[in-house]
Amino acid sequence: MREYPPTTSLNIFLVLPKAELHRHLEGSLRIETMLEIANEHGLTVPASIVHLSDMVQIGENEPYTFSNFLEKFKTLRLFYRSPEVITRVTREAVEDAARDNVRYMELRFTPVALSRAERFPLHDVMDWVCKSATETAEKFGIDVKLIASVNRHESTELAEQVAWIASNYQDKGIVGLDIAGNEAEFSGKPFAPIFREAKESGLKITVHAGEWGGAENVREAIEVLGADRIGHGVRVMEDENVVALAKERGTVFEVCVTSNHQSGVTPTLKAHPLSKMIEAGLKTTINTDDPSISRISLSSEFQMANEKLGLSMKTLKEQTINALQAAFVSEEDRERLVKEFKRGLE
Ligand code: ADE
Ligand code: ZN
Repeated sequence: MREYPPTTSLNIFLVLPKAELHRHLEGSLRIETMLEIANEHGLTVPASIVHLSDMVQIGENEPYTFSNFLEKFKTLRLFYRSPEVITRVTREAVEDAARDNVRYMELRFTPVALSRAERFPLHDVMDWVCKSATETAEKFGIDVKLIASVNRHESTELAEQVAWIASNYQDKGIVGLDIAGNEAEFSGKPFAPIFREAKESGLKITVHAGEWGGAENVREAIEVLGADRIGHGVRVMEDENVVALAKERGTVFEVCVTSNHQSGVTPTLKAHPLSKMIEAGLKTTINTDDPSISRISLSSEFQMANEKLGLSMKTLKEQTINALQAAFVSEEDRERLVKEFKRGLE
């Protein structure tokens, strides 16, 4: 890796029970699985893992920019060729999280991305993901909830369809609606009515903002889109008034340090403002975003936060409890989760 030879043992972080609020299914595909899918479906992708990984993972010698980061998702869209593939990649994403000792995960997925290659109906794709996630979660004893994600750079019509289905799939494990994509060039405002309706239906709202755009986008996410949580949001630190707004509203930040570095938000890992956000009194959590694209796990991210950002073990554990406090679950489930985690974190 470019700047991160770890010195402590990963095991110290692996054994901690962890909670993840911000992980994309599409950024969680195993490279070996992609090669198998490519062979089975006659996709013209490079025949070796080394070359395929260059196309879908961030390498050491490529630009760390958001446009390069988003390019990876375009290649990934070629892989969703059958219900079996979508079922399999969901199963493996949940399994990989469980093996990393993630005990609670909100996995977000982009139905439009999964449906595109074969023009699958959106509700079918959402059925396959919900079913596979629920079955695998049960098998591995991990709590998994789902968040449907739409993109700013795609149409509001598509977003409306996804939001409507998600609202009707709350009994199948969908708990939230997210908006991601090209924040630098696309406003969230046109999506406001869709997010308002989703919230009224009972879904929780999380918004990618203040990542590739400034603090004003965090304000927009909170005031216009009704965000309960912000994906990334690190650039909130550029405006003390928006910091104050987030604190007043109790908005929680889903921080993804390595992803921020790889997409050009911070020049180095060490320069990441997570510690400053914590010092400012913001509610923060630690997340992977796209573990496969970034070649990380939640445990390795905790290790990095400890070694590179100087977060103590106590602070790391507090980040986990913050995640549970902000999880999109019932108060009854939250109480149970906090109890279980506190036992494991002692
Ligand atoms: N889609 C997938 N990962 C993303 C990110 N980090 N920011 C915005 N959109 C995304
Ligand atoms: Zn994300």
